[in-house]
Amino acid sequence: MPTTRDLRRRAGEDPITMLTAYDAPTAAVIDEVGIDVILVGDSMGNAVLGYDSTLPVTMEDVASRTGAVVRATEDVLVVADLPFLSFGVEQAESVHNAGRLLKEEGADAVKIESGPHTVALTEALSDVGIPVMAHLGLTPQHVNELGGYPRQGTDRAAAEETIELAEAHEDAGAFAVVIEHVPSNLAAAITDRLEIPTIGIGAGPHCDGQVLVSTDVLGMADWSPPFSKRFGDVRGEMRRAVESYQEAVKSGDFPGPEHSHVEEDIEDLE
Ligand code: KIV
Repeated sequence: MPTTRDLRRRAGEDPITMLTAYDAPTAAVIDEVGIDVILVGDSMGNAVLGYDSTLPVTMEDVASRTGAVVRATEDVLVVADLPFLSFGVEQAESVHNAGRLLKEEGADAVKIESGPHTVALTEALSDVGIPVMAHLGLTPQHVNELGGYPRQGTDRAAAEETIELAEAHEDAGAFAVVIEHVPSNLAAAITDRLEIPTIGIGAGPHCDGQVLVSTDVLGMADWSPPFSKRFGDVRGEMRRAVESYQEAVKSGDFPGPEHSHVEEDIEDLE
């Protein structure tokens, strides 16, 4: 099983692959294929829980889905996301919440939407043995402050601030940094400066790895961000299966004799 140390060593080597997963069957496929990292992302709010942002996602949501992913997988590194307000208020509570995902659910590491306020927390978690993946650039938990999900780091001051934050999180002990929705030349500059791997989403080709939301990749979402890509049509396949089932029940083709059984002893009931 790869460790966060193995991942650290992959910076600049062969590209790191990461996908989100929120349930056992999806996680099992991702693990079988040999993807390096599963992120049990708070994107579950939009992707599978029916919310229009990640803000309502709770520790219980992330914990139960992290447990499902861990139970279904053998080789992949599992990173659990800390949801909105589960960190950043009280340090002790943040450490307790992060620790719970490792101790009770078996995650290997946590991801934190990062900013100046998470440097000390990253150090505190790393010190007690909770590996931290930082997340910079677009941080969707700030949707109300940002007024949506705009590109980040687009002017020099913002780009320099993002580089400084990435370095501060590396110094604080983060083992990797997700960089979301920033210009690819900013992502390249961060990748160049850091020794730990950068994992991009909407950040161009120069990161050490890439992450996407699995429901986007599988073609299950009715909307995906412009930087994402569908690699399948699972929604279409699900629809075809559901329609075939409906037709088979209505026409009487299902259940057939191979899906039913007759008990000789109760023949006379008829
Ligand atoms: O929650 C999530 O899935 C994420 C990724 C998009 C990086 O934060």
